[in-house]
Amino acid sequence: MHAIGVDIGGTKIAAGVVDEDGNILARTRRVTEPDDAASIDRAVCEVYVELSEQFEVGAIGVAAAGFVNAERSTVLFAPNIAWRDYPLQENVRALLKSDIRVVVENDANAAGWAEFRFGAGRDVKDMLLLTVGTGLGGAIVVGGNLVRGAWGVAAEVGHMRVVPHGHICGCGNEGCWEQYASGSALVRDAQAAMVKHPERAVTLLGLAGGEVSGLRGPHITMAAKLGDPLATELLAELGRWIGEGSASVAALLDPAVVVIGGGVGAADELLLGPARYAYAHSLSARGYRPFAEFKVASMGNDAGIVGAADLARI
Ligand code: BGC
Ligand code: NA
Ligand code: ZN
Repeated sequence: MHAIGVDIGGTKIAAGVVDEDGNILARTRRVTEPDDAASIDRAVCEVYVELSEQFEVGAIGVAAAGFVNAERSTVLFAPNIAWRDYPLQENVRALLKSDIRVVVENDANAAGWAEFRFGAGRDVKDMLLLTVGTGLGGAIVVGGNLVRGAWGVAAEVGHMRVVPHGHICGCGNEGCWEQYASGSALVRDAQAAMVKHPERAVTLLGLAGGEVSGLRGPHITMAAKLGDPLATELLAELGRWIGEGSASVAALLDPAVVVIGGGVGAADELLLGPARYAYAHSLSARGYRPFAEFKVASMGNDAGIVGAADLARI
């Protein structure tokens, strides 16, 4: 059976028809308003209508950046989008006027499932996936199964506290891992460094178009690849947070592989090298147990679409 996977991002949604081997047969996208939940509902419907004209599909999986309930129907809470107890499945089905199966999934779970089945995690049974973007998302596979928890909201690793009384998080707590290990944290720290040390920020400022506020994550990766010391340090610091936090997760789950997804994956060894180093230096019982392998996600921006579609079939 073909299924449609829809990946809801901050300002756009991307969708595709996916076959049972994880191939995307057709794709489309729409622009949405992050603070307008109804515009997201409508966009999901539009992509369904468009794609289902081209292929016969049996289900829609919608990947959403928030805490999704165990029934996979409602976004209970989203730290970075305007969803509170939001009945996404019900809304989409009402707009579609169809009884097609609609399944809502956490975005990182969807991406992680795709990487586990078809990507960087396909050779292992125990995997941690981190999506490093606006937030820090997690997917946990243990013994070949996606871990969902009692209420559907397991693997929200971005909200583990890593710094007592640290930065305030969109979830209402302080010191969450995503406040240190996300694309947003990287840009925040980079902008602070540009203000504090303008003499070290010439390359970054140029890429940002001359305004500190114009800086985006990819500029940092670009600068680091050009050998810029400040950008390289910023990515290494992000890598350190990723590695240290992963070592804490490993105390609980002992994954074989840690897969790093999200835009920063483009930084590759500039990020993974420091992540591995920090992991190796903070893992408990280090020296007496194997280290997890750190890998960049291999499915890029397709992971959310493919994983959401695949999980919608199950
Ligand atoms: C949210 C997660 C989401 C992650 C990545 C976090 O802030 O709590 O549900 O998976 O961001 O989008
Ligand atoms: Na998750
Ligand atoms: Zn939080």
